Amino acid sequence: MKIIKVTDYEEMSQTACNIILGKVKDKKHLVLGLATGSTPEGLYRCMIQAYKEGKISFQNIVTFNLDEYLNLHQDHPNSYHHYMKKKFFDHIDIPKKNIHLPDGMATSYIQECQQYDEKIRRAGNIDIQVLGLGVNGHIGFNEPGTSFKIRTHVVNLDQITRKTNSKFFRDIQDVPKKAITMGIANIMESKEILLLVSGKKKELALARLINEEISEQFPASILKRHQNVTIIADRAALPNL
Ligand code: GLP
Repeated sequence: MKIIKVTDYEEMSQTACNIILGKVKDKKHLVLGLATGSTPEGLYRCMIQAYKEGKISFQNIVTFNLDEYLNLHQDHPNSYHHYMKKKFFDHIDIPKKNIHLPDGMATSYIQECQQYDEKIRRAGNIDIQVLGLGVNGHIGFNEPGTSFKIRTHVVNLDQITRKTNSKFFRDIQDVPKKAITMGIANIMESKEILLLVSGKKKELALARLINEEISEQFPASILKRHQNVTIIADRAALPNL
């Protein structure tokens, strides 16, 4: 794993943005794997800015998001569909047909998971996957204990995750108990991975990722087995390196 240490959240976002924009410019067709949460917001702002300045077009970009809550309508302010629209897609020129998120309202989740995997496969797998890091080591919504072999699936959200994400909701009771997420296998099949980590609250999780053995009890640890991972971490998350 390559580690880029930066000063702060802004520099982390800018660095990730430059890496991705470089690829968007280079390639006619690029499949981007996207994340939600607070971590990638600055990256999305930076990419929107580049688009508005006419530096970049997203016409030939195909996106796959990592995850979505179950049973939250797409227009619900806390759904990841809504998040992605408001924070990124509504501000760029990406064709609607190129955007993919798991459908948390699907009538058959088994079918939805299989179809999502199939869509990723048909797109030629993900060229560059953006990841955030959960305080419990989750990537996407792959919680501790998830098999490394699994593809898109439905998960029961960990209490820690529900508590952490309750900052986006009125109350922890409102945080869905289940979600649909790309699996570790999908993530590992990405050609390149960018893990963004910012802030003191991620310090312990990042230290565990770097120092501990690979274990399904700490899902992000699998990234050590991937050939092309770059961690972009700020000083607060990585004080001792
Ligand atoms: C969330 C998302 C992840 C995200 C992670 C970190 O629950 N499902 O995709 O990367 O947890 O969230 P944050 O960036 O808000 O710290």
